[in-house]
Amino acid sequence: MIILIGGEKGGTGKTTLATNLVALHATNGKDTLLVDTDKQGSSSSWAESRDEEGHTPRITCIQKFGKNLARDIQDLKTRYEDIFIDAGGKDSIELRASMVIADKLYIPVQASQYDVWTLDQMDTLVAQTQALNPDIEAFIVINRASTNPSVKETEEAKNFVLDSEHLCFSDIVIRDRITFRKSAGEGQAVFEFATKDKKAIDEINTLYSHIFQKVTY
Ligand SMILES: Nc1ncnc2c1ncn2[C@@H]1O[C@H](COP(=O)(O)OP(=O)(O)OP(=O)(O)O)[C@@H](O)[C@H]1O
Ligand SMILES: [Mg+2]
Repeated sequence: MIILIGGEKGGTGKTTLATNLVALHATNGKDTLLVDTDKQGSSSSWAESRDEEGHTPRITCIQKFGKNLARDIQDLKTRYEDIFIDAGGKDSIELRASMVIADKLYIPVQASQYDVWTLDQMDTLVAQTQALNPDIEAFIVINRASTNPSVKETEEAKNFVLDSEHLCFSDIVIRDRITFRKSAGEGQAVFEFATKDKKAIDEINTLYSHIFQKVTY
């Protein structure tokens, strides 16, 4: 399966989610690959720090850019059970090419109105992609939601997504937790980090279960 974490907006948590998911999948014994299509190379840096720190399992991460990316990843599909793609935060050749080959697309959004509005563009992009890849499933994941229960942004974001024609709301809400930042700096996923943040780990597990449609814990 090819799982794309993408979106047109920068800084929404694509790299954070892609790196946590690939680490969890590899820990579950799966032969998996992380493809970094973002020239900023954040996923690649994460995998490098992971190697330098000696954290296991090792994650194979490759960078791919340009229009041949779809063909190259299709070739790699025969060598890995599942491939995660981290697509940079803008409408790019890489994002569009990845959408054509992805089975599932997860779009992290921050539950502020501004980010939610940019979903209209993704809705159109998914509609266009469906002409070439009719089976793609596109889901919204709310990321960096406030941990303060009195903040109602998440409900507003859900209602917006429910209006969207080609995007589904995954019902997954990942909150703003310091462990996501700290673990990334060490080349780790939240479940591997020294300080175990059960809520962060549960959130990633829920997303993982949604992708692979099974209970992991
Ligand atoms: N749930 C979270 N809790 C706390 N911090 C988070 C969370 N998700 C992401 N962050 C932080 O937000 C920042 C942006 O996240 P990230 O780099 O994953 O976004 P991105 O979508 O990959 O950005 P870009 O579009 O630049 O590639 C990072 O500092 C990351 O550590
Ligand atoms: Mg990124």
